[in-house]
Amino acid sequence: MPTKNTSIHGEWSSRLAFILAAAGSAVGLGNIWKFPYMAGENGGGAFVLIYLACIAVFGLPIMMAEVMLGRRGRQSPINTMKTLSQQESAHKAWGLLGWSGVLAGVLILSYYSVIAGWSLSYVIESVSGSLKGISGTQAGELFESLIASPLTLIFWHTVFMVMTMIVVARGVIGGLEVAVRYLMPSLLILILVLIAYSVSQGHFMLGVEFMFTPDFSKINQDVLLSAMGQAFFSLSLGMGAIMIYGSYLSQQASIAKTSFAVALMDTSVAILAGLAIFPIVFANHLDTGQGAALIFNTLPLAFGQMPGGVIFGTLFFVLLVFAAWTSSISLIEPAVAWLVERRGLTRIKASIICGFVTWLVGLGTVFSFNIWETYTMFDKTVFDLLDYLTTNIMLPLGGLLIAVFVGWSMRESSVRDEMAMSNPVLYQAWRLLIRFVTPVGVLLIFLNVIGII
Ligand code: PFF
Repeated sequence: MPTKNTSIHGEWSSRLAFILAAAGSAVGLGNIWKFPYMAGENGGGAFVLIYLACIAVFGLPIMMAEVMLGRRGRQSPINTMKTLSQQESAHKAWGLLGWSGVLAGVLILSYYSVIAGWSLSYVIESVSGSLKGISGTQAGELFESLIASPLTLIFWHTVFMVMTMIVVARGVIGGLEVAVRYLMPSLLILILVLIAYSVSQGHFMLGVEFMFTPDFSKINQDVLLSAMGQAFFSLSLGMGAIMIYGSYLSQQASIAKTSFAVALMDTSVAILAGLAIFPIVFANHLDTGQGAALIFNTLPLAFGQMPGGVIFGTLFFVLLVFAAWTSSISLIEPAVAWLVERRGLTRIKASIICGFVTWLVGLGTVFSFNIWETYTMFDKTVFDLLDYLTTNIMLPLGGLLIAVFVGWSMRESSVRDEMAMSNPVLYQAWRLLIRFVTPVGVLLIFLNVIGII
């Protein structure tokens, strides 16, 4: 028997509402800002290939497992893991999985919000016409001057955190559905506009080649770990975001089909973003490995040159902010839901507390681009450290533990009951993946990185 039929926080109005919300969580800065620069830094095709394999072998099975756990537990990830481990007579320590997820969510949002702040500031740059006819050097200078100013970054980081916490305080169920229903198709259209521009510039095939011709000599431990981390990050897995959205999913909806739809949408947006960006990089002789600045140094060139660039550019950055917004809501929802369940706080109070803590931690990222730029640990700034710790370690580890819990600690009958998959062959295939292939694969990559194998 499932724990409860609905969550105290509410339920999605339909399966489509869940798909939209989960896609809203998955599609974000990770697809449009991070995927291209990670691919650029890690050798293009080789990275993309491993990334796609990670989505199929780790991402999809774990997404199904996470949604299933959420729907069975019907509470915040912390309480879901607690309740399920009791019900399944598993060890109490499984509750810690919920905690590490909440921590990962706060840490990710702390820097995610700063980057979303950059996008906000580019909305203004674009609408004011300052990207018109901009040269590569000028675009670089514009970006440098933005990140050099702690006050400007704090301002935008604050605006974005307030935007996020207002939605979370009001409850995520109502607003998200409407927002994402229009956001996704519009974002897709604008990426297609960019691709059309890239094609018209005549360097499209260079971009395609860069992304799809894997140079296997480029694969090393870092590429493996980054591609795996990026798969988890992009699908919002391993920290309870998808779990809590699953807890608002109705009992009838098919977990397998919904997860597949979300993973497909997310992956398509990332690939299309890459196809839009790399041709512009090559056409302007820019560096593919320039890191976090990549889209901010390339897209203004495209918008600055194309007809109607002010409108398209503004729309694009507005949509990027929206995409980041719907993701950031899911990053903090587990923490807020837990405070409401555990401490009986109102959503408003819980949101203020979580929002403030996250905002404060975010200052570390703000300063890492300017006054603390030279403070590094293991050769990484605060931002790099937070990103590495969460994306490459916490999320895959969370995913690994979810696979072990679902595959080994839960009773088969509970899992089968909750998954309710009508096709027995697909169910067995998923079970095989979640018990053996997924956990062993993630573990091997970890062991490889620490040098044991
Ligand atoms: N998936 C989001 C993106 O690609 O931008 C980021 C994210 C959201 C990561 C929620 C993790 C998460 F739990």
